[in-house]
Parts: sequence; structure tokens; C-alpha cells
Amino acid sequence: MSWIGPYRKFGLLGMNRRNACYTLARNPRRLYPLVDDKLKTKQVLEQNQLPHPELYFSIVHNFELKFLREIKFLKEFVIKPARGAEGRGIVVIVDKHENKWKKSSGELLSIEDIEYHVSNILAGLFSLGGIDDQAFLEYRVRSHVIFRSVAYRGVPDIRVILFRGVPTMCMLRLPTMESDGKANLHQGAVGAGVDMLAGTTLGGVHHNRLIDRHPDTQVPIAGIKIPFWNDILETAARAFEVFQLGYIGIDFVIDHILGPLILELNARPGLNIQLANHEGLLPRLRAIESLGPGVEQMNFEKRLALGREILHNLKEGRS
Ligand SMILES: Nc1ncnc2c1ncn2[C@@H]1O[C@H](COP(=O)(O)OP(=O)(O)O)[C@@H](O)[C@H]1O
Ligand SMILES: [Mg+2]
Repeated sequence: MSWIGPYRKFGLLGMNRRNACYTLARNPRRLYPLVDDKLKTKQVLEQNQLPHPELYFSIVHNFELKFLREIKFLKEFVIKPARGAEGRGIVVIVDKHENKWKKSSGELLSIEDIEYHVSNILAGLFSLGGIDDQAFLEYRVRSHVIFRSVAYRGVPDIRVILFRGVPTMCMLRLPTMESDGKANLHQGAVGAGVDMLAGTTLGGVHHNRLIDRHPDTQVPIAGIKIPFWNDILETAARAFEVFQLGYIGIDFVIDHILGPLILELNARPGLNIQLANHEGLLPRLRAIESLGPGVEQMNFEKRLALGREILHNLKEGRS
């Protein structure tokens, strides 16, 4: 059964309208490069003191593959393509055994395996449009303790959609055995809707099917209180001021020591957040639209307060 039918009445945003009215209309093209390239994003986050996982080093050219010999000093790190998406090409290394590195899944990689993977990244195997890419290594985030019993191994992430700088809809994504340490729904992670006023999770979805329990850990998906909830919304609203994209998805992870960190920003955020929330985006987007001009110029506290008011009104059926 298609899930779209039953949710249409809830104001489901579709692909065509998202593109025409939100991404194309609200996101100036010149700003895309900053978010389509994770290395550029990191630079901007760093310059603006927005928290993110530390960059260890990047590899731009094939002759730089020799830099990888340096990882013999590292026990854990994450390898990423700068222009990847949906978890493709990301390898999360969690430990080192003798001369091999262990992935989230338990699979062991030799230095040659890692070099081969990075050369595939440079060749564009995982990049948007298949063009040449850059690779980088960064700090491996360890999950906040609250998520450890529910997620399977990797680090859950929190997607926040902001429209005009106002947090609009969120979901928590939980890695599964299948998703190999990554919290991307396309890799088989679980998505859970979030009650944004309370900062707690609602029910979940897995491969577009509604679920109540995590498929591997069997722990209930609903009722998880997301730590640092207000910090996350505040950081997202501040990030809008820096990146200036009117319709954006920001991905956070919560490190066990460092707290909330921004992983990436997405100028074309997916629509399945609506399935996870059992609610369409349109009522919220329309309410934010109707706030009239000047929202983008308000300070982040004001925007957060407006967002709360809108959610509250929609909940009470008053909007
Ligand atoms: N530094 C990291 N430490 C641990 N896990 C990570 C790290 N970076 C990414 N991940 C995992 O991989 C997933 C995808 O990462 P992300 O940077 O959002 O790339 P993509 O654009 O492919 O979605 C995250 O949701 C998280 O589960
Ligand atoms: Mg992501």
C-alpha cells in the first residue's frame, strides 16, 4: 500500500511543490556550493564557531593518498566523500586490531582496502553527479548514552528542517544492522518523528513501513527524550543566519563528550520526514509563510519563539 494516500489530507508536501515553491524559490543557487561540499561546509562552520566534528585531514589528489599512512596513529575516525549523500561512501572506523581497522559492522580493513576506498572517492564513485571528488577524515562521534540501547551501533542523527530560519519539522534517525553505522534512511536506518515542543520521539518508520520498535534492538521508538534539545534548535537557527538558505535540512549528531555537532546541511532535504512524523509539512510551511516579511532578519530567539507558537497553535487546531 502506498503511504501517500492516507497522508494527503495531512498536507503532504510533494517533490514538485518542494522544488518549485521551497528549494528553488528560497535557496539562491550561488549558496549551494557551500552545502553541497562537506569540506566547504566545515570551513564555514569553523569560521562561525558552529560545533562540528573536527577535520583530521583531506585528500584532494591521488598523490596525496600517501597521507593515509598517517592513520596508523588513529584508532577511530570516519572517512567521507566531500560531495557524497545518503551515507554513500562513508566508512565509520571504530577500532584498530594489529594492522587492521574495524568498521561499525565489524568488518576489518587493511591499509590497502582504505587506500582503495579513498581512491574510489576521488574518482567520484560516491559523489553527486559522479564527478571527481575529495575525501576527508574526521573525528568519530560516539553516541550519547541515551541512544545506546535503542540504536544498533552507529550514531543516530537528528534532522531539523528550517523554513525561513524557523525550525519546522524534525526527525531522529537510528542506525540499524543494515545501515552499517550510518543513520541514513536509504541505508536502512529507522526514522522517528519528533514532538518539537517536547523534544521527544514519536513512532518510527523503516523502509517506508510504520514500526513501533527498532528492528534489531526491539527497543520502543517512541518516548525517547532527545538530550540538548533546545541547544539543537538554537544552533540550527543560528546556522541559518550563516548559510542563508531559506529551506534547508540540518543534520546533527550528539557526541557523548562534545554534545550536539552539525554534520551537514542539505539544500534539498528529503520528504520522508513527513512519514516519520505522520504529518505533512504544508500546514507548518504555510503558517511560517504567512508570518509576512522580515522573519529572516529577526534574531534567532524570536524565530524560535515564533516556531513554538505556530506548533502550539497547529496542535490546538487553531491555525
Ligand atoms: N563523524 C562521524 N562519527 C560517527 N558517525 C558519523 C560521522 N559522520 C557521519 N556519521 C554517520 O553517517 C551518517 C551520514 O553522515 P552525513 O555526514 O550526514 O553524510 P550524508 O550526506 O551521506 O548523509 C550520519 O547520520 C551518521 O550516522
Ligand atoms: Mg546526512
